[in-house]
Amino acid sequence: MLDIGKVGSFMLGARCVKRLGYGAMQLAGPGIFGPPKNREAALAVLREAVACGVDHIDTSDFYGPHITNQLIREALHPYPRDLVIVTKIGARRGGDGSWNPAFSAEDLMGAVHDNLRNLRMDALDVVNLRIMVDVHGPAEGSIEAPLAALAELQRQGLVRHIGLSNVTGQQIAEGGTIAKIVCVQNHYNLAYRHDDALIDQLCAAGVAYVPFFPLGGFTPLQSTALSDVAQELGTTPMQTALAWLLQRAPNMLLIPGTSSAKHLRENLAAANLNLPEQAVAMLNQIAPPSLH
Ligand SMILES: NC(=O)c1ccc[n+]([C@@H]2O[C@H](COP(=O)([O-])OP(=O)(O)OC[C@H]3O[C@@H](n4cnc5c(N)ncnc54)[C@H](OP(=O)(O)O)[C@@H]3O)[C@@H](O)[C@H]2O)c1
Repeated sequence: MLDIGKVGSFMLGARCVKRLGYGAMQLAGPGIFGPPKNREAALAVLREAVACGVDHIDTSDFYGPHITNQLIREALHPYPRDLVIVTKIGARRGGDGSWNPAFSAEDLMGAVHDNLRNLRMDALDVVNLRIMVDVHGPAEGSIEAPLAALAELQRQGLVRHIGLSNVTGQQIAEGGTIAKIVCVQNHYNLAYRHDDALIDQLCAAGVAYVPFFPLGGFTPLQSTALSDVAQELGTTPMQTALAWLLQRAPNMLLIPGTSSAKHLRENLAAANLNLPEQAVAMLNQIAPPSLH
């Protein structure tokens, strides 16, 4: 019997969630644009996640756009009391599927209302402000104006908690002077370790770190060392990659994404995997840790 609670939990806003969650981005059509090929299969993945004990789902209204949130609503509303749905704002999709910054106060208010309507919620649990100074990775630049606009929506009761995504340490520090930041969502996995020092700082401050692309994202992880360790342990490379993240830091909350119920079960079964020290040492050599 799968018990994902055995990997422990961590605070996310006002609630403690299990460290293994689910990222819903892969449920939309190709390029995260348009409807899924198989709508029933997408709904089944969401229901299976919750049936397996997932209490943390990551989404955005710009997946589809709107479609992923509508799938979540159809599959899961009325939501279980313990489910935390985290969404993100800061982008708008072009008609060609492009991802464009959308940071005016009006854009952000519209995005919060889109999420509320499509998820059918009165208030959003956690909203990540997805910074787009550089769409591909964190880049310096003040986040004061959009974060102040989001904090105003929080004061109005539309948003319970605020997180940041695709940010630098400096932006997190600036953000903390404007609003309480409960989580940070950046690109990180065992082959991409830019945030090592930041993860430890956030852990010391009690802030959740939620890596996106935990399995490599659009280019799933491939490494001989990863395959060798997985084979030695009688498990799969993806489970091994998730187990590595879980042992990396206690504030690490995982949201592996999949459109497949089989992959979902495989990913959640990473809860059963304890990596021996020697396996961790081999996996640590895949990419050097970043020290600043
Ligand atoms: N803040 C941001 O800017 C940002 C950016 C990207 C993503 N995110 C969030 O992070 C979540 C996770 O990221 P992600 O979904 O892009 O990347 P990911 O979790 O690293 O990987 C997803 C890819 O891995 C495949 N996969 C998943 N489980 C597998 C398994 N057991 N075996 C083989 N292949 C497997 C998926 O294909 P299948 O569908 O075929 O399983 C998909 O192609 C997203 O769902 C989204 O909520 C946030």
